[in-house]
Amino acid sequence: MRRKIVAGNWKMNKTPSEAKALAAEIAATLGSEPCAVEVVVCPPAIDLPAVSAVLAGTQIGFGAQNMYHEPKGAFTGETAAPMLVDLGAKYVILGHSERRTYFKETDADVNKKTKAALAAGLTPIVCVGETLEERDAGKTGDVVAGQVRGSLADLGADLVKVVIAYEPVWAIGTGRTATPEQAQEVDALIRKTLADMGGADVAEKVRIQYGGSMKPENAKELMAKPDIDGGLIGGAALKADSFAGIIAAAAAAK
Ligand code: 13P
Repeated sequence: MRRKIVAGNWKMNKTPSEAKALAAEIAATLGSEPCAVEVVVCPPAIDLPAVSAVLAGTQIGFGAQNMYHEPKGAFTGETAAPMLVDLGAKYVILGHSERRTYFKETDADVNKKTKAALAAGLTPIVCVGETLEERDAGKTGDVVAGQVRGSLADLGADLVKVVIAYEPVWAIGTGRTATPEQAQEVDALIRKTLADMGGADVAEKVRIQYGGSMKPENAKELMAKPDIDGGLIGGAALKADSFAGIIAAAAAAK
């Protein structure tokens, strides 16, 4: 049985003081009752020290939205995995479509980052997803399977440690959510690709999220699908009540 994982991607929102307040509100809303769902927040890197202090001792994990693949050195402006680990981060989002589009990250870049994250002990949340043009051209399966194969190449036994987020680009920030059937179809295809890569046992264990305009109102139906093991949430993660609503939906969707 895979434990559901709900992660908030705050993107480039919230100053350090705003982030501290939001993390505290989320922690207070969730309370200390053990949660059936794994809960993660991913604020901007500069907010991580403040968020780390607020979330210490809570059941909420945190992580970054990106990192560089080298552990240190002359790479001005970048953040390394050991720096995140030192702050207590346990996760890092990699290969988000905004990074692939605006910062030209390729599957090969994401693969290097994924390996570096795993080597440092972080859980990578690796994002894949097709554009509307690719979907309309009937290429969704090929595009997503290609991203999975490329981004997660040569991980060996570590493949099982990765979380994958299927985020159709056309559903991100648009209010146009994939239907539960559409999301299930692609999450199942990702699991089949993982089985080809690492065997059926590994594929059964890897958590595959859906992301793209997920809200408390549509979360339960999406996460009730057999291959959807959680959500990667953008806009609705920026308010404690809507984020908590999605976590409750995940817990109820078992
Ligand atoms: P929205 O939930 O705002 O559509 O964003 C999804 C996303 O990109 C999460 O990484």
